[in-house]
Amino acid sequence: MKSTIKKYWPQYKWSNVFTMIKNIKRQPERNTEPFRDKLVVITGATAGIGYYTVRKYASMGARIIMVNRNKEKSERVVREITEKYGTPIEYILADLSLLTDIKKTGQYFLSLEKPIDVLIHNAGVHLESREETPDGLEVNFAIHYLCPLIITRMLMPKYQRDMAGRIIFVSSEAYRFVVWGLDLDDLQWKQRRYSGIKAYGAGKLAQFLVMHILAGKLAPCNVTLIAMHPGIVRTETGKDNGKLYQWYKKNIIDRYSDSPEKSAEALYYLGTSPEVAHTSDVFFHLTTEEELTPPGRDFEAAEALWEKTRELLYEKGVAL
Ligand SMILES: NC(=O)c1ccc[n+]([C@@H]2O[C@H](COP(=O)([O-])OP(=O)(O)OC[C@H]3O[C@@H](n4cnc5c(N)ncnc54)[C@H](OP(=O)(O)O)[C@@H]3O)[C@@H](O)[C@H]2O)c1
Repeated sequence: MKSTIKKYWPQYKWSNVFTMIKNIKRQPERNTEPFRDKLVVITGATAGIGYYTVRKYASMGARIIMVNRNKEKSERVVREITEKYGTPIEYILADLSLLTDIKKTGQYFLSLEKPIDVLIHNAGVHLESREETPDGLEVNFAIHYLCPLIITRMLMPKYQRDMAGRIIFVSSEAYRFVVWGLDLDDLQWKQRRYSGIKAYGAGKLAQFLVMHILAGKLAPCNVTLIAMHPGIVRTETGKDNGKLYQWYKKNIIDRYSDSPEKSAEALYYLGTSPEVAHTSDVFFHLTTEEELTPPGRDFEAAEALWEKTRELLYEKGVAL
């Protein structure tokens, strides 16, 4: 920690914070062009941002495959979209915190013949207390970081074949709470007091770091990989947290939050606009490019994280 304070402190700029505050007030750019018959894959589309993004893409003619963990909710979305827009929509079931389900999802998309025009890694959680998956992984780390990483990595041969596609990581400005970077010796929050917001931010920060590495690997395949903050929006996030959190969310957070339709508009623009076609390894606040804080653009840390992750996944039977 001491060494990262020394490293990052001189790189921090107040102007970066002011820019972020300015970006909060901005409306996303819009793309009004249809996306007929293009294939969009999105994780976590039964609620919130994912659900509204499905509606947006479907209303513009796209064909959608959702990756959800709940069958009943998925069926409901399929029915609604089919009735309302008549566009093709299907889903696969997967709990994206579990390595077996993550691998199964990667395998499924790898076997698709049609190119994936847009892949949106959206599924996410906000947990007040530390939870571990049956694989022994901290949940934030598994869903926000390992899941998009493993699926994207598995799809590399497909992208090499198709030579096209856009990938979007739905990230969060909450990564800023991890002021001095990731603790590479305690990625699973076993040795420190767990903090919901910091563990959430750490998962998103790890996502940025791996974006730098994956974007480099995907560049020869003509694939755009970007991350975006979807705004602070009223969704079901944190629905499994305690009563105090629910009160705080309902009375404070939600009051000042936007509609997830705004995030969906931004995700449509980022997935479809020609303006973004040749942009990779970039973070957008909604649709405005924003410079990451020093821990988010630390390529040395990204490489160290990649190495740690490779070892961890190897132990769990997943090759990176
Ligand atoms: N809301 C905000 O203000 C905000 C701000 C910044 C970033 N974000 C990010 O935006 C993304 C979407 O969040 P949201 O606010 O729309 O939350 P949400 O309303 O709670 O929706 C989350 C979605 O992810 C799914 N999901 C959660 N855990 C999963 C798992 N293990 N396997 C498969 N699917 C899973 C949920 O499925 P179920 O319906 O089955 O629970 C749901 O469809 C997240 O990545 C979040 O970090 C949100």
